Amino acid sequence: MGKKPFIVGNWKMNLTLAEGVEFAKSLGNNLHGKNEIMCGICPPFIFLKDISKVLEGSGICMGAQNIHSEINGAYTGEISALMVKEAGCTHVLIGHSERRHLFGEIDSFINAKIKTALSVNLKPIFCIGETLNEREEGRTKYVVKKQLKNGLMGIDNKCVEELVIAYEPVWAIGTGKTASPEQANEVHSFIRGFLTDEYGKDIANSVYIQYGGSVKPENTKELIAQTEIDGLLVGGASIKLESFLKIIDAASIQ
Ligand code: PGA
Repeated sequence: MGKKPFIVGNWKMNLTLAEGVEFAKSLGNNLHGKNEIMCGICPPFIFLKDISKVLEGSGICMGAQNIHSEINGAYTGEISALMVKEAGCTHVLIGHSERRHLFGEIDSFINAKIKTALSVNLKPIFCIGETLNEREEGRTKYVVKKQLKNGLMGIDNKCVEELVIAYEPVWAIGTGKTASPEQANEVHSFIRGFLTDEYGKDIANSVYIQYGGSVKPENTKELIAQTEIDGLLVGGASIKLESFLKIIDAASIQ
């Protein structure tokens, strides 16, 4: 698609603050002057403020791993879009499969979160993907379309253009099983087709569609070489600087 690859690391609930700060410093040093790629990291909430200071001026963006759908109020233990924005985030993961499957998040809640993120100018990285059962039953496209339709309900075209969509087959997350580049590209094409039908070609082409699920240095090149894969969302391999840098390098050389 001729876009700069967008590589995002999702640290999940890993690392200490000291390790995270050190990681961000080294990442910034290593990526200095590297303009052919866009890179971001999603640290745990409590690291955001410190990491944001480290990343200042580096061109590396920072995302939160979640937000609540409300901007403020009596939601004990939750974090709002405004709070992560204030801490320096430009992006936020919404609808990650761990949120959907471990914490019971449903499409309507995810839709509300996307709207709230957009209302404060945070870019959602909207995650979708089918389970192993759903794939084996031949329902991948049905599931992905339903997640897209419900997640994007009531969001206007201008906002859709700002989105990053991450296709992450649930069976490939943290399992070591990656979708083959062709399998991933087929679903990415389907997503692009959905966006084209709903919002027109220009908007569909400007949306970044990332692949996620056991991305590692060894499979990066062939994934990113696929025509419809604009970037990668990396979990396990993003918490070790060496492997994350290898992924970024492999994605840069095309
Ligand atoms: P993984 O996680 O790379 O460890 O499979 C991906 C993700 O959860 O975004």
